[in-house]
Amino acid sequence: MPTLIIDEKEKIIDRHGANPEKILNILIDLQFASPEGYIDQETAQLVADRLHMKETRVYEIISFYAILKDTPQARYTIKVCSSSPCHFSGGTMVMQSLEKALGVKENEATDDNLFMYHGIPCVGACGQGPVIKIKDTVFGNLNPAKIEQLVKDLRDGRYPEL
Ligand code: FES
Repeated sequence: MPTLIIDEKEKIIDRHGANPEKILNILIDLQFASPEGYIDQETAQLVADRLHMKETRVYEIISFYAILKDTPQARYTIKVCSSSPCHFSGGTMVMQSLEKALGVKENEATDDNLFMYHGIPCVGACGQGPVIKIKDTVFGNLNPAKIEQLVKDLRDGRYPEL
């Protein structure tokens, strides 16, 4: 299963100056960058080490904020690019199509724990907007029919690599 490599995690922490006052932003950015969409134990430990805090304190913060998760929430975490180029080329349509196809709102897992979706910053495929990313795979030039088909294909196991 692909995971965020340590260099990428360090870069996110450094972007916030490894500042303990920015721990919420750090944890949110780490979670959104994580292919599985949660803070794993190794990441919590790294944050604790870099911010010179106890790991238990990091977990207290994760428990306190509903947006933060310490376990995988769904088999497929669908990340919707919400940066301007994608937003203006149909980002809202993507969110609405996912809500319709999955029957849940952003950041909610489906009852079968198969799907969850949320917005993330630019994934570097702006020419293909609107795009979504699942693990390391980007799906671009989306429209409602393509999104419906993608959800169906994922349910049917047509992307075993994801
Ligand atoms: S703005 Fe969506 S991929 Fe860059």
